[in-house]
Amino acid sequence: MRAQFFGQATERMLDLAKLHVGSQVLDVGAGTGDQTLAAARRVGPTGSVVAIDVSASMLEMTAMSAREAGLSNVATRVMDAQRLDLASESFDAAISRFALMLIPDVDRALGAIRRVLRPGGTFAALVFSTAEADPFLSIPHTVARRVGRLTSPPEPFGEFRLGAPGVLCDGFKKAGFRDVAVHVFATRRRFPSLADAIWYAKETPMPLRELLVQLDRGQQDEAWAQIERAYQQFVGHDGFESPSELLIGVGTK
Ligand SMILES: C[S@@+](CC[C@H](N)C(=O)[O-])C[C@H]1O[C@@H](n2cnc3c(N)ncnc32)[C@H](O)[C@@H]1O
Repeated sequence: MRAQFFGQATERMLDLAKLHVGSQVLDVGAGTGDQTLAAARRVGPTGSVVAIDVSASMLEMTAMSAREAGLSNVATRVMDAQRLDLASESFDAAISRFALMLIPDVDRALGAIRRVLRPGGTFAALVFSTAEADPFLSIPHTVARRVGRLTSPPEPFGEFRLGAPGVLCDGFKKAGFRDVAVHVFATRRRFPSLADAIWYAKETPMPLRELLVQLDRGQQDEAWAQIERAYQQFVGHDGFESPSELLIGVGTK
């Protein structure tokens, strides 16, 4: 499902990171490694991808997928992006998909990523845009908070933290990257049916699950019923379809 929604945006991120045959690449917050494998295919057997994540179980899935795909140029390391235990100037490029906005100290992570890049190396990071631009993600948040009567956090929800105009660009610049640019990527979230959309919303590894944990069983049922009703507006003849906007931040060391 992720590959289907985000395949084109992922390829664009790899283009912008200037991956080529033989590149040594760092993948930050690799998760289950969809983009890791795409990068590994691009750089070929003479290149390599080091996938880092705080979740060992996610990285196990990445390693397994790489093995199944016959890719021997993928390494996984359990590591916090804020404290990269990697040699300075050891990568030609870095990528990150849907992870940067979830890292508590983004500035520190950006500084660490820049440190491990060789001079001239490029970092490209794909993140979500604003809540308004992605109702599939923002509706469950709004509903869960309303039903659970949760008080507002001091800053916007993780997903949209870097989505406001200027935030991603400023972060890259503050970390010392040059030639910084932010590319807007408009896409659509499509599911065969409303039931599939709800299933994916429940399964998606986004912090929504943490938010729902704060609701009791009855509130959770009520929240999902309200989410389903709100999602109805995106159901048409061809199933569920909602707009989504992504940002790709790019900077060079
Ligand atoms: C939404 S998932 C995205 C995973 C994958 N890149 C993808 O697009 O399918 C975010 C990932 O960031 C990881 N993550 C969160 N904080 C992190 C940190 N401080 N350092 C490294 N990884 C982190 C999470 O464990 C999770 O795997």
